[in-house]
Amino acid sequence: MGQALPKPALRPFLAEDTPVLAAIFAASVEELTGDDYSEAQQQAWASAADDEAALGKRLAGQLTLIATLQNSPVGFASLKGADHIDMLYVHPGAAGQGVASMLMEALEKLAGGRGARALTVDASDNATEFFLKRGYVANQRNTVTVNGEWLANTTMQKKLGDNAAPGVPT
Ligand SMILES: CC(C)(COP(=O)(O)OP(=O)(O)OC[C@H]1O[C@@H](n2cnc3c(N)ncnc32)[C@H](O)[C@@H]1OP(=O)(O)O)[C@@H](O)C(=O)NCCC(=O)NCCS
Repeated sequence: MGQALPKPALRPFLAEDTPVLAAIFAASVEELTGDDYSEAQQQAWASAADDEAALGKRLAGQLTLIATLQNSPVGFASLKGADHIDMLYVHPGAAGQGVASMLMEALEKLAGGRGARALTVDASDNATEFFLKRGYVANQRNTVTVNGEWLANTTMQKKLGDNAAPGVPT
């Protein structure tokens, strides 16, 4: 008989997480996006984590949550400003276990609690299905250059419930 899978937990980002998050980012892009992007596109995308100092600064400047399994980081997500999902990456070894769902559930609640009416994300082609399942709708198709390669993504939006307490200004 198999053992129950350990459940993911969430915690805030710490500066010392940066190297492991850079590794999760690169592994996630390299192993989970091959159906939708060419090898050259994947390499250009993954190399965005080569500059760890820049990645650490980006994550520290946003509301970044880390998902852990048995205390080891396996994924992360970040909210830029009040209402934009900037990063969402799960290690291939932990994919398909609800890690991204847990991260997004928390960020949507936090953003809603702070008064955001809707969240946007520029979703990669492999992630659009994930966001559609969470109630996001596709608004606009984009092409962006990343390290000299053109990559397509889709701006998607989800309206959030009104979490503000009645009569309390937000
Ligand atoms: C997209 C990603 C974050 C999903 O992470 P995950 O932890 O595997 O997702 P979950 O296990 O929470 O999946 C939730 C649901 O979405 C579905 N889903 C997840 N990834 C999917 C994919 N690539 N294609 C279709 N459905 C997908 C799951 O099947 C699941 O459906 P269910 O609730 O009906 O069972 C992960 O594949 C990833 O890191 N991809 C590479 C990086 C990337 O593109 N990030 C997004 C940048 S905007």
